[in-house]
Amino acid sequence: MKDPIKIVSFVERIDLLPAIDEMIMQHWPKFMMQASVDDSYWERLYQPPFAEYQFVAITGEGDDERVVGLINSVALPWDDGLQDLPDHGWDEMFTLAMDSDQNNLPCNLISALSVTVITEYRGYKIPQLLISHLKSYAKNKKYLGIVVPVRPTMKHLYPIQYFRDYITWKNERGEPFDPWIRTHWRLGAKFVKIAPASMTITGTIDEWESWTGLKFPQSGKYAITSGLVPLKIDVAKNRGDYIEPNLWMFHAVTA
Ligand SMILES: CC(C)(COP(=O)(O)OP(=O)(O)OC[C@H]1O[C@@H](n2cnc3c(N)ncnc32)[C@H](O)[C@@H]1OP(=O)(O)O)[C@@H](O)C(=O)NCCC(=O)NCCS
Repeated sequence: MKDPIKIVSFVERIDLLPAIDEMIMQHWPKFMMQASVDDSYWERLYQPPFAEYQFVAITGEGDDERVVGLINSVALPWDDGLQDLPDHGWDEMFTLAMDSDQNNLPCNLISALSVTVITEYRGYKIPQLLISHLKSYAKNKKYLGIVVPVRPTMKHLYPIQYFRDYITWKNERGEPFDPWIRTHWRLGAKFVKIAPASMTITGTIDEWESWTGLKFPQSGKYAITSGLVPLKIDVAKNRGDYIEPNLWMFHAVTA
């Protein structure tokens, strides 16, 4: 049995930033750190006004305190319907949120960007605590709800299956097959639609080789560790493109 988990707002605990950065570096694949959004966006997440939308799971006290989980999210203005959520899901929501802040636009929707739990604490429903916390926050502040460009955690084991098919798979209990889709579904989120190009990551062949530890001697499609879909390599153009689909899901917060 693990120690009790506490969820804190980043605003109350800005001292946790080094531990958060360390956790992200250790638990996300290298290539996913190369997202096409501006690098400065990550730093802005931990500054006002965005710092308010980051929540941290901690355990232990004093010298024994540890960061074990994190939910990153942004708020943005959204006047369209859910069916209009962008095809460029994650990339576009991050950009829209940062742009709307520059322009001082009022926000009415929260978009989650990512949830991370350290390996040792997985399977203990920490995401449930983090997502429920964000939902309570959104409800108190009267947001319309929370949208999530969901990155199914087991899709990487099925890189050549169509995303549109994979997300319909069920387990033996008739629940969504993918554990991460299932976590959101259990918490009441509804499927909205696919974001076919949610995250685009582009690099030279050297860069892709250093991010993945693989060699890409000829043009074509390659399965890469933790990639939900294959990486496309074009040797003549010295370029690799990884275009990741996600599933838009929506958590209502009014009920
Ligand atoms: C995604 C992530 C946050 C889930 O954390 P978690 O602690 O495993 O989540 P939960 O405790 O809610 O478990 C969710 C389900 O996954 C299952 N699960 C946990 N670890 C698993 C594993 N290694 N393989 C398969 N299933 C697993 C759990 O049993 C649970 O299944 P259930 O619904 O039948 O009970 C964590 O795996 C992680 O940080 N991954 C890296 C970052 C990432 O991919 N984030 C998601 C996209 S933003």
